[in-house]
Amino acid sequence: MPLNDVLLDELRDMYSAENQLVKALPKLAKGAKDAKLKELFTKHLEETKGQVERLKEVFGHLGEKPTGEHCNGMEGIVEEGKDALEKDEEGASFDCGLIGAALRTEHYEIAGYQATIAMAKTLGMQDVIDLLTENLNEELAAAAKITEAAQPILLESSQEPEHKKKAMSAKEKTSAQKSREDEKAAAPGLRKKAS
Ligand SMILES: [Fe+2]
Ligand SMILES: [Fe+2]
Repeated sequence: MPLNDVLLDELRDMYSAENQLVKALPKLAKGAKDAKLKELFTKHLEETKGQVERLKEVFGHLGEKPTGEHCNGMEGIVEEGKDALEKDEEGASFDCGLIGAALRTEHYEIAGYQATIAMAKTLGMQDVIDLLTENLNEELAAAAKITEAAQPILLESSQEPEHKKKAMSAKEKTSAQKSREDEKAAAPGLRKKAS
């Protein structure tokens, strides 16, 4: 498959990812307990809507339609964000889960834009590079702002008293079982020495 087609696939993936976030970010904003974090998620939602528009422009330059590829990676990350929102935690500790989910989201997007920019550079598509770089810079700034806002929240959470462990939900039991299977599946590879 020529690079041009790989780029198109990746861009459609990003377009789907950004659209999924337009739906998911309001839930994070609504769920966040910390006012600063809430504000950051709300602002990034507005940026994300602009990113969808920029990607449409990219497809306009390429003379292609933006749909055609669903981003499974972002679906998984959004799903993890939902888990964080369902956690039976209070205040700062609850927000710590959202921070983890939000940072995963931003870094997944950063990787996507870095890869597509590298492809567009190889193909000499300056208009596409410029638009994608605007999106990348917003993602980098969002990740930095979340990391900064996280500091006092992490500190507060570290000072919260221990509370009794509750019984695991069915979902948590399935997750724990799968994690043991992951470990088992990795075991032969871990034993193998690089030669
Ligand atoms: Fe984005
Ligand atoms: Fe983002």
